[in-house]
Amino acid sequence: MKQIKAAIIGIGFVGAVHIEALRRLGYVEIIALVDEYDAEKKAEKYNIPSAFSSYKEMINISKPDIIHICTPNHTHFEIAAYALNRNIHVLCEKPMTTTLEEAKALVSLAKEKKLIHAVNYHNRFYPMAHHMKETIKDGTIGKIFSIHGGYLQDWLLYPTDFNWRLVSSQSGKTRVVSDIGAHWMDLAEYVSGLKIVEVFAEFTTFHKSRKKPVENVTTFSKSEDTTEYEEVPIDTEDFASILLRFENGAVGSATISQAFAGKKNKLSLLIAGSTMSLELDSDDLSNVIIGHRDQPNQVLTKDLALIHTNSKKLVSYPSGHTEGFADAFKHCFNQVYQSIIDSEATIEYATFEDGYHEMLLAEKLFESAKKGCWIKL
Ligand SMILES: NC(=O)c1ccc[n+]([C@@H]2O[C@H](COP(=O)([O-])OP(=O)(O)OC[C@H]3O[C@@H](n4cnc5c(N)ncnc54)[C@H](O)[C@@H]3O)[C@@H](O)[C@H]2O)c1
Repeated sequence: MKQIKAAIIGIGFVGAVHIEALRRLGYVEIIALVDEYDAEKKAEKYNIPSAFSSYKEMINISKPDIIHICTPNHTHFEIAAYALNRNIHVLCEKPMTTTLEEAKALVSLAKEKKLIHAVNYHNRFYPMAHHMKETIKDGTIGKIFSIHGGYLQDWLLYPTDFNWRLVSSQSGKTRVVSDIGAHWMDLAEYVSGLKIVEVFAEFTTFHKSRKKPVENVTTFSKSEDTTEYEEVPIDTEDFASILLRFENGAVGSATISQAFAGKKNKLSLLIAGSTMSLELDSDDLSNVIIGHRDQPNQVLTKDLALIHTNSKKLVSYPSGHTEGFADAFKHCFNQVYQSIIDSEATIEYATFEDGYHEMLLAEKLFESAKKGCWIKL
């Protein structure tokens, strides 16, 4: 099989996950990494032959087939545009950019260049999420009436918790919505097969100012690791409560928070149909709960003999062996790389069009929260 040459830009929390997932594919060679900080040290740690502090220099010297953009959001646009203009495929972390205009420009550029373009909405690649999608497509749960759930974390609970995501010039004008809410909305639309057509939102910022550590802090690190702070104003939401209308008339609601004590990274998706309901929770990704009215509810456990035929490709390990976050990245990247090798390969991953759509949803939710009314897409 052709060995594909990849380069990873930004080796913080998620960049390391990209490296590990790619290595599990077996047909990808990571030829270079880029980071503004400690690039050499990181390359040594991950045994990657070339290290750069400038993505432009890396692209011009190493000439990878594909780059993975794992840097803070405000850098995605310029890095993606630079690579696409040099005929390099792009896999970008979410959110795709910080503005709708930038996202639109990248969609056009990627199409014009006929290059592979992907956004890492990896939750699509949990085997049981895929099973739910296929079950719904088969019509098993009937007409979808409503879609609920949310995404809850607690790592920004205290006013001393800080990260670049709290700086709107780096993360964009919405925070919880575009950082984790978009994961939920992408999954809800992907699994249900229904697009969101109208939104209503209430945003709350619990901490109007936060204590920014004087030193750089990495994602998910704890406030007590630092002692010197400066007080900075916060202009993005810690919490979003959203109401949704889907294209078939179904209604929905989601609660998104990064300040919910005890919930570390909890994504829940509940889809209620006219004959039964389906429920997935990221705390228990091996199981789907099937809800009935006239018989006992069922728990379907990930198992090659029981999962939907079309979802078997996402099962790497036997029943009882948990597959989660890192495995979803592996399966997502596998599809992206297969579509580089074979133009007819299945594309279930989020493309730049999907990345743009999530940006549009975030924009409309922001507008709704400001105006206090329903907004159509
Ligand atoms: N798909 C997911 O589940 C998921 C999870 C976490 C983060 N993300 C996304 O991944 C991106 C990175 O998030 P993170 O949590 O890993 O952040 P992070 O702060 O942990 O890491 C970012 C890294 O990028 C480097 N960097 C910053 N600017 C750079 C530049 N111009 N050139 C090269 N390197 C640069 C930093 O030094 C740092 O090492 C964000 O867009 C985030 O939304 C996605």
